[in-house]
Amino acid sequence: MQILDGTAVSAHIKSQIKEEAASLSAKTGKKPHLAAVLVGNNPASESYVGSKVRTCEELGFDSTLLRFDGDITEQQLLAEIQKLNDNEAVDGILVQLPLPGHISPDMVINNIDPAKDVDGFHPITQGKMLLGQRSFLPATPYGILLMLEHYNIDTTGMNCVVIGRSNIVGTPMTVLLGRNGTPGNATVTMCHSKTKDLKEHTLRADLIVAAIGRSFFLKADMVKDGAIVIDVGINRIDDATKKSGSRLVGDVDFDNVAPKCSYITPVPKGVGPMTICGLMKNTLEAFKLRNNIH
Ligand SMILES: NC(=O)c1ccc[n+]([C@@H]2O[C@H](COP(=O)([O-])OP(=O)(O)OC[C@H]3O[C@@H](n4cnc5c(N)ncnc54)[C@H](OP(=O)(O)O)[C@@H]3O)[C@@H](O)[C@H]2O)c1
Repeated sequence: MQILDGTAVSAHIKSQIKEEAASLSAKTGKKPHLAAVLVGNNPASESYVGSKVRTCEELGFDSTLLRFDGDITEQQLLAEIQKLNDNEAVDGILVQLPLPGHISPDMVINNIDPAKDVDGFHPITQGKMLLGQRSFLPATPYGILLMLEHYNIDTTGMNCVVIGRSNIVGTPMTVLLGRNGTPGNATVTMCHSKTKDLKEHTLRADLIVAAIGRSFFLKADMVKDGAIVIDVGINRIDDATKKSGSRLVGDVDFDNVAPKCSYITPVPKGVGPMTICGLMKNTLEAFKLRNNIH
């Protein structure tokens, strides 16, 4: 069993991004610029946005963090997004989800300029991805593809099962694993909460992506020997042995599943850092497209 080490792979990819960004900045006199929007004070969102902004600094990108109170209206937030769309200095816009209940995430995402949609959530971005056209890829599935590529894992002809069908992880992951490309060319089954006999599907899988949001959901008896398991889940559970009283775990019962696997991602330090890589690669791509660099 080999651990797919998100920290090590992301360090490698980030060093490549940093080098390319430095050379493009020397040529253009500009730096890629990511604007992050944070609404309210959800501690998990604070932490995710904080690490994205720190990564921008690490890579020599410019970044702007816009914070708004949780009671900002949808109209006010849309006006702020429009300002970022119109701001020539901004290449990429990310709105950290979830948003407070009175704000429609669809409405906000739909109002981001697709040319700056570095999270890859806009309908135009996802439509292009579905049609196999050049587009930003949703950051988490993109990060997973980068991880598979790094370890030379060829998904051609594999039976893959994606558990979860969200617009940001499960659905795009299903499309990308099944596309005519590399990684891709797999036969993909997308499972969800209404799937009958889930275990029947997972037991046939050469590769499983678990994106459910339920701690320890995927058990050892649901996985065949030698399978590759990608754990997207981030769940906080109580742990009295930790100073904070809690710790992060994935959707996979790692201790029991790992011994059966050929490869597996841990949580933390698996998919999480790769998602940031996907975001940063998209931001660099947005910068290049907006500056006519091919
Ligand atoms: N590591 C990262 O960078 C990263 C990035 C994004 C998300 N995440 C984490 O990944 C997890 C999933 O995120 P998400 O945004 O995709 O979540 P989501 O929108 O809540 O979607 C969860 C999916 O799981 C399915 N599901 C729930 N219970 C199930 C069951 N018993 N059997 C089979 N399927 C079931 C749901 O099915 P229905 O559609 O039928 O309801 C849904 O499609 C979360 O823990 C999230 O925090 C991590």
